[in-house]
Amino acid sequence: MNKDGSAGDTDYGIIGSSYSDFRKPEYKILEVIVSQLGEAYSVLNVGAGTGSYEPTNINITAVEPSSTMRAQRPYGLKPAINAVAEDLPFADNTFDASMSIFSIHQWKDLRTGLAEMRRVTRGKVILMSCLPSKVCDYWLYDYAPQILEIEAKRFPSKEEIEDGLNQKVNSIQVPIPLNCSDGFNEAYYGRPELLLNKKARQSCSSWGFVDSRLADEYVSNLKNDIDSGKWDLRYGNLRQADFYLGSLYLFVTI
Ligand SMILES: C[S@@+](CC[C@H](N)C(=O)[O-])C[C@H]1O[C@@H](n2cnc3c(N)ncnc32)[C@H](O)[C@@H]1O
Repeated sequence: MNKDGSAGDTDYGIIGSSYSDFRKPEYKILEVIVSQLGEAYSVLNVGAGTGSYEPTNINITAVEPSSTMRAQRPYGLKPAINAVAEDLPFADNTFDASMSIFSIHQWKDLRTGLAEMRRVTRGKVILMSCLPSKVCDYWLYDYAPQILEIEAKRFPSKEEIEDGLNQKVNSIQVPIPLNCSDGFNEAYYGRPELLLNKKARQSCSSWGFVDSRLADEYVSNLKNDIDSGKWDLRYGNLRQADFYLGSLYLFVTI
């Protein structure tokens, strides 16, 4: 384990310091999560990061291994417990529901982590993740193919999720709004200029998986196409699209 305590495939001690500036919870995505939580009152949030998507009117228990991320939880949220998905420090059936948002693709042992979530939860397990088969459909693939190919391999399939939970799940596509405040790659579908910002890219862990010179080359090609108007010729209609239906999905146990 590193100094920061990061337990997945990404060292948040290195890339996490600006996370809460660029990855602010998007309320339209929060609404989708809340509608699935239903009547649940005690809810576990695994890989809670800086506390995004934690409804404040219910009793949330947050688990987060990275000290850099735990330190960015906003005032008013309960401190997160330093633990990992693969070894949750709770008795069986402790929570009404549990959730994990943008985290399962980073875990060292997905099967064990999902089995742990199932063990400690009486009701629904809710996972926000990306469907690997759709990741490379995004226009960013034209500019940064290796990044999206790596990304597609990190995300588990629906079948792997069901296998880990030992239960069937519904997959619900989550529309991404145009001015999405949570800066993951697809959130910039209609605002490509924002991907030119190094700190914005750093807040999407996939950019850390390629050599920095290659990443710079990808960004420079994107900048040239934005400046020349080539990007707009191909994709400019997305600047006015209220929503983008990409690879973002909620997987909810049935
Ligand atoms: C992309 S961040 C998402 C954070 C937050 N859920 C959000 O939506 O902004 C992924 C988080 O998963 C955490 N993580 C990685 N591996 C983990 C593991 N094995 N157990 C628990 N959390 C883990 C990381 O430390 C990081 O905070």
